[in-house]
Amino acid sequence: MSGLDDELEPIFTRFGEATTARYTKLPEGEMLPDTAYRMVRDETMLDGNARLNLATFVGTWMDDHAQRLYADSFDKNLIDKDEYPATAAIEEYCWRILADLWNAPNPDDVIGTSTIGSSEACMLGGLALKRRWQHARRAAGLPAEKPNLIMSSAVQVCWEKFCNYFDVEMRVIPTTPEHPVFDGEGLAETVDEHTIGVVALMGVTYTGAYEPVAKIAGILDGIQATTGLDVPIHVDGASGAMIAPFLQPDLEWDFRLPRVASINTSGHKYGLVYPGVGWVVWRSTASLPEDLVFRVSYLGGEMPTFALNFSRPGAQVLLQYYRFLRLGRRGYTAIQRESQQVARYLADGVAALAPYELVTDGSDIPVFAWRLKPGHTDKWTLSHLSERLRVRGWLVPAYPLSGELADQTVMRIVCRNGLSRDLAEDLLRDIRTETALLESLPAPIPHPGLGPAFHH
Ligand SMILES: Cc1ncc(COP(=O)(O)O)c(C=O)c1O
Repeated sequence: MSGLDDELEPIFTRFGEATTARYTKLPEGEMLPDTAYRMVRDETMLDGNARLNLATFVGTWMDDHAQRLYADSFDKNLIDKDEYPATAAIEEYCWRILADLWNAPNPDDVIGTSTIGSSEACMLGGLALKRRWQHARRAAGLPAEKPNLIMSSAVQVCWEKFCNYFDVEMRVIPTTPEHPVFDGEGLAETVDEHTIGVVALMGVTYTGAYEPVAKIAGILDGIQATTGLDVPIHVDGASGAMIAPFLQPDLEWDFRLPRVASINTSGHKYGLVYPGVGWVVWRSTASLPEDLVFRVSYLGGEMPTFALNFSRPGAQVLLQYYRFLRLGRRGYTAIQRESQQVARYLADGVAALAPYELVTDGSDIPVFAWRLKPGHTDKWTLSHLSERLRVRGWLVPAYPLSGELADQTVMRIVCRNGLSRDLAEDLLRDIRTETALLESLPAPIPHPGLGPAFHH
């Protein structure tokens, strides 16, 4: 501390600022709050602009009332149910709203919880499948080792983590040119008595396409009829579970299908909340084994909880409830429809450019992907286009697909609330300009581009 008055010390020459050292060790002394604030702010200036980040599904815009609510409640720890009973009650309202949105057959018999995101929600869904299977096996006097979980090669990395962390064999059905989206093909050969469940994706992260949950359920019905194996489905609706109820209300993918045991979503994706909230809901209390549930103190009594974390911000749960009240069904429908229209506008614009063909067009979730037409050019790749767009501030990832399609590189744009039509026009203009520049190259770019710097 220099001891000089805050007002008089020149900015950028104060203690702390007048040094190039990064603080990888706790500094010995204090510094002025204004200086520390400026240093942290300035350091993060090199981050991209969140609104121009078209790689992420996660909310990057909320209105002023949400900001106020956030500031009012960032000190609440969600696990302190006893101190914050109103927040605890609001958490329950939220998962009950979701159970209703996802057509749970008996609203009095559902159970759910908030999580830090879909990854934790998927882990909880997977753990419930595993424990239910183990109970059923033990009850039948059968060994309960070597459980397996079936999913497509296009799953998000959280499912690999689940299988790795919780000792479950990951049985992957690869996406192929004939089956670019997992549709139940291959299940009959993959299911066995150790299968704890099948994961169906409502919104493949790579492309935005829905997996046909009803068709997958139908194939599992057939397997049950011939083998007696009753295999439940967990729907990973990280993005689509907050799109389908509004944009495709007649599509049956949720608890209308008796085989669907649990569903997760990210409140912070198309739930339209800032990062740190996810949700998982089970169709009935029987789907969540009682021995996974812990009790925390609540109003002199106990409240059941099922989570990997203990302490966690309560603010995001309040923001979710704010969104539910503020928007209602009509508001969500209007916002998701607008995002989809922007996605379709952009997809049409990209498809009109000679080098490209669409992989998906934004008609499931408001996300679309495209690739270079086979054999179109050897002078540049989509990684180069991604780099060129980044120079203009846009973050549009280029990455390989999964399974047998891993030799195909695609680019993907996630359209979210906040990507206005004006911004979309600017983006399309930049894609056109940069494509024309790459097309005009007289010879191949000598380096292959930075390659995928993007992880699912
Ligand atoms: C299908 C799917 N599942 C799970 C996740 C993980 O979600 P979160 O980032 O909320 O943990 C994602 C994230 O993109 C996803 O797309």
